[in-house]
Amino acid sequence: QKGGFDSFMAKEIHEQARAVADTLRGRLEDGALRLDEMDIDPSVLRSIDKIVVVACGTAANAGAVAKYAIEHWCRIPTEVELAHEFRYRDPVVTEKTLVVAISQSGETMDTLMAVRHAREQGAKVIALCNTRGSTIPREADAALYLHVGPEIAVASTKAYLGQIAACYLLGLFLAQVRGNLYPDEIAALMADLEQIPDQIQQVLDSSAQVEQLARDMQDATSVLFLGRHVGYPTAMEGALKLKEIAYIHAEGFAAGELKHGPIALVEEGQPVFVIVPSPNGRHSLHSKVVSNIQEVRARGARTLVIAEEGDDAVLPFADEVIRVPATRTLFAALLTVIPLQIFSCELATAKGLDVDQPRNLAKSVTVE
Ligand code: F6R
Repeated sequence: QKGGFDSFMAKEIHEQARAVADTLRGRLEDGALRLDEMDIDPSVLRSIDKIVVVACGTAANAGAVAKYAIEHWCRIPTEVELAHEFRYRDPVVTEKTLVVAISQSGETMDTLMAVRHAREQGAKVIALCNTRGSTIPREADAALYLHVGPEIAVASTKAYLGQIAACYLLGLFLAQVRGNLYPDEIAALMADLEQIPDQIQQVLDSSAQVEQLARDMQDATSVLFLGRHVGYPTAMEGALKLKEIAYIHAEGFAAGELKHGPIALVEEGQPVFVIVPSPNGRHSLHSKVVSNIQEVRARGARTLVIAEEGDDAVLPFADEVIRVPATRTLFAALLTVIPLQIFSCELATAKGLDVDQPRNLAKSVTVE
């Protein structure tokens, strides 16, 4: 059943190339995006003036990636909110708000309550879900399915990648419908997105380095994760994975926030993962993150750096460099998280923990 892996989580991590390919499959026709399930009238999609993404946990981290993509491509103000906070805060939602509910299970009660609240205010709701026939897509105006297959391990991995890929599809679809991007721009973006499954496989094929690192770090008591832009939600997700399955204190930060407080945590030997954006994207973004690596290293941190192939600027300040293939800054979110998933899974396995059924957690949280 586990296909030769120690856990369902390990198996699901290694299924991610196929999972993302399955999310993308059949959605591009003659260079244009087709989302057949999207039965919300295009005129409604053209009239929306705000998007609110509601989700919990890992799905909320996927939503945080979506914000960068949707605002960049569609120029629609996009907020990402934990569903339980949204619901109890009297949020401003109108008929011109598009609410995007992300949920692997489609049964998370907090997210469902947020969907109901949004619809009562007249908002249109699109659900991004993995489980057909589940409650959230049934109650939404439209549903986009991830098609990543059943996820058994409590800690979400392949559904996270499917959620991000589905968010990209939604963002590009909105840009197409609203005319924010030219058809050739959308085709070029989709062509790069379709390379991602092969690139995921490359990251998985080189997992031995991270697995060794995880076994060596079994006794760690605190690990920090830093990133900017989509590296920020990646840092949050890396920290969440380590907390939930390895029971290690972990925190994800926006790297720019360091000097506003968290850098005080750094002392000799503190492990810090840093997610570095592509040096071929915005230069200032890349150089800021390289400076952040330098800053924590100068205070004694052990720097574990996830960087694109050929990015040599990180070498002087990295204790360990984990390589990922080159892609667009936005799409890197589908690659850079994988070493972090493998790290947590391998570390928890080495500690002898129940990786698939971590203590105190349930796969689907159907109570508020
Ligand atoms: C973490 C994890 C949880 C879920 C969250 C939402 O690995 O699995 O944080 O992401 O409970 O679940 P869904 O996506 O089913 O709504």
